[in-house]
Amino acid sequence: MGSLPLFPEQASTIAPEVDHLLYFLLTVAVFFTLLIFGAILCFAIRYRRRSEYELPREMHPGITLEIVWTVIPFGLTMVMFTWGASVYFDQSRPPDDALQIYAVGKQWMWKLQHVEGQREINELHIPLGRAVRLTMTSEDVIHSFFVPAFRTKQDVVPGRYVTTWFEPTKPGKYHLFCAEYCGTKHSGMIGWVYVMEPQDYQNWLSGGAPEGSLAANGAGLFKQLACDNCHKTDNSGRCPNLTGLFGNTVQLAGGGTVKADEAYIRESILHPQAKIVLGYDPVMPTFQGLITEEQVLQLIEYIKSIGPKPGTGPGGGSTTSPAATRPGTAGAPPAKR
Ligand code: CUA
Repeated sequence: MGSLPLFPEQASTIAPEVDHLLYFLLTVAVFFTLLIFGAILCFAIRYRRRSEYELPREMHPGITLEIVWTVIPFGLTMVMFTWGASVYFDQSRPPDDALQIYAVGKQWMWKLQHVEGQREINELHIPLGRAVRLTMTSEDVIHSFFVPAFRTKQDVVPGRYVTTWFEPTKPGKYHLFCAEYCGTKHSGMIGWVYVMEPQDYQNWLSGGAPEGSLAANGAGLFKQLACDNCHKTDNSGRCPNLTGLFGNTVQLAGGGTVKADEAYIRESILHPQAKIVLGYDPVMPTFQGLITEEQVLQLIEYIKSIGPKPGTGPGGGSTTSPAATRPGTAGAPPAKR
């Protein structure tokens, strides 16, 4: 025994929650399976046909029985629903201070990108005891980021960002899988998550990102693509000033607002005509096909890095509205790095 574990290790804060719910579902399922099979067996023997000409007696079960077998399953399913919903909400809301890491799935590998600049393929190093928020996308087809020990499975969809989060509770090495059939080498799209003591993680981080941080690369790319010709920081450009944009609310031409999060910035780079900022002309060309998903991430981190600094409020750009100071609209944590 012990060589064939029934369950993967519990290595994240959410893992026990998921397991308890699963145990409950299993218990209910096993109990009713036994009850129903037992009843079928007993009744088959007890009420078997004893002669050729025997006719069954007509039965009218009382209203009490009807109520009991309606109310009990209803109660049980409501427990499953509320319990499941609460686990789901826990799993879908990353804490504000979570460590941001990006993941891009492609046939057939996981590319992971730390904000500090480290890039990994099919390996992810994370610190123990710290919530990690993954913002993920795919370059081609649907993949699914699955770490059984964390009880984390999240589909990764081309053309949009999805997020998931987990907080590892045990140092160690855990399997990472792709859990969505994505082509001939789907089964090879696997890797490892390394949970390290915080100090070891710091050492690992400082161990080298020769290419510099995501934001620094993004700043270079911003110049290289000549974004700064139009997005000037003194509001004199033809396009909105991006300083202080991230996490704020943007007024759109034709009414409506949008929150400047990762998905909005990605869309504005790849589909600039989708949402036009109030007071500006739709002059921006698309960068679809010209830059990779990784470069989009660099630009996003650059825009985050020139985002509102704690305590200074919106950067005064005309892209942000006064509404940005409303509680709840400036909810995204400012980039602290
Ligand atoms: Cu990627 Cu299966």
